[in-house]
Amino acid sequence: MCKERSDFGDDFPEHIAIIMDGNGRWAKSQGWKRVRGHQEGVNSVRAITTECARLGVKSLTLYAFSVENWKRPKAEVSFLMKLLRSFLVDERPTLMENNIRLIGIGRLEDLPDESLAELRETELMTAGHDGMKLRLALSYGSRSELADAARALAEDVVAGKLAPKDIHDETLRDYLYDPTTADPDLVIRTAGEMRLSNFLLWQASYSELYVAPMGWPEFREPELHAALESYGGRTRKYGGLVSDLPPEQPSPSQGR
Ligand code: IPE
Ligand code: IPE
Ligand code: MG
Repeated sequence: MCKERSDFGDDFPEHIAIIMDGNGRWAKSQGWKRVRGHQEGVNSVRAITTECARLGVKSLTLYAFSVENWKRPKAEVSFLMKLLRSFLVDERPTLMENNIRLIGIGRLEDLPDESLAELRETELMTAGHDGMKLRLALSYGSRSELADAARALAEDVVAGKLAPKDIHDETLRDYLYDPTTADPDLVIRTAGEMRLSNFLLWQASYSELYVAPMGWPEFREPELHAALESYGGRTRKYGGLVSDLPPEQPSPSQGR
């Protein structure tokens, strides 16, 4: 069923981040090789990206390949890198039609030259889009991001651009891979795993978490809607008390 943003109430996440997990298990459960799950996962990426853009999500971050994933068998890694390359080329019309801006975050310099070149080309082609920002986390690890940030920050201190006394919580944000994107409101993980696996550890400090039981290839629009409904029913207190929150505005149907 086609849902509109208003169907999810007033609390709608501006930034959704997804740990796309369970491709291999899903493929195995169908009697196929693991990599077929990655291939099918691309269809979920397209479905979820276009649905998020349609609903007016501002930023969508997809965890596509972690720094730890380089440890996987060579054949699987090379399949994933080829898949990334073809995804970046094949999905350009979808990105153009939906006014989506794509960027990569992570240790992108570790990607094979051909995949990195297609990523840079897609970033360039979509740079002028002012609709949803799609962030692909590639060779991404939160600890690496924080180490990279700490190094850059230390260099600025050594260069006299920043005094240690001026380092506050928010200072670190300026040194992250994409400082202009707000923290995720909602982090979704598929395949039932209850962990962050080195994803956005700093940025997800106050994100709402949602774990879906199915593998990523089975996560489509209805499953996204269920996550949005769950998010809509949460109360975010950020360490305060419910009484500190601004009073809810009466809905038009109340008081009639
Ligand atoms: C997620 O699916 C995709 C990547 C991590 C690249 P997996 O490949 O982790 O699938 P499972 O979790 O082993 O089933
Ligand atoms: C997390 O999934 C990384 C991505 C989805 C890209 P993994 O399958 O690599 O994580 P673990 O090993 O189950 O923690
Ligand atoms: Mg996995």
